[in-house]
Parts: sequence; C-alpha cells; structure tokens
Amino acid sequence: MRIHHVGIAVSDLDASIAMYRDVFHAELTHRVASPSEGQETALMSAGGTELELMMPTREDSPVGKFVAKRGPGMHHVAFAVPDIRKALAEARAAGMQLVDEEPRTGVHGSPIAFIHPKSAGGVLTELVEE
Ligand code: CO
Repeated sequence: MRIHHVGIAVSDLDASIAMYRDVFHAELTHRVASPSEGQETALMSAGGTELELMMPTREDSPVGKFVAKRGPGMHHVAFAVPDIRKALAEARAAGMQLVDEEPRTGVHGSPIAFIHPKSAGGVLTELVEE
C-alpha cells in the first residue's frame, strides 16, 4: 500500500499553488474546474506522491461545506489499490461505511471511491485504482 495523494481544502487556489510551488517545490501538473461538484482542483507533484488542492466554487458544495465548517486544511488521504472493486468489497466485509458503493471516475481519470471517516479512524479515505 502506498499513499497516492493527499487532499487539501483551500480557500484561495492561486495562493496555495504558489505556496506549494515556491516554498515546497511541488510542481503543478493539472488544474480543472468541476462545476457539477462545485470545486476547482489543482494537482501538484510532490516527490513520490501528489497533492490535490480543492477550492470550493460554491458554498453549498461538499468542499464548500467542509471549508465553512472546519476552515481550510487536510481533507482526505488517498491510497493506491490495484483493484478497486476488490478493495471496496474488503472494506465492506470489514464493516466499513462506504461513501461510494460503486467506483466513480476521479480527477485523475482513474476509478475512485471514498470510505467514511467514521469507520476509517476519523480520516476521509479515498481508494484510487492504478
Ligand atoms: Co482525492
């Protein structure tokens, strides 16, 4: 198992990209607006892993609600899995509460699914197939 990326909720995407680029030398690899999800996302390469910076574009979007409630900060951890359906079945068999019963396509273009933080040690956990 390895960490695929870390998701961070931000309130100013340009400023956050500049900080991670200029101070921590991460490299912007992808930036996309997702109107249906009410967020704009930037992917940054950071050594062997990635940062997924997420800025709400609507207050009532999932990330908008997160930022309104808790402020900007750590949002989720994503683990790479070779077979997402198998990984989901294992999580379900272990009694974990799934946010996504079925895989969907994530910002990386790969199948993803989220596990509820309540059953994952308080951390919103994403599985990414690769
Ligand atoms: Co993610």
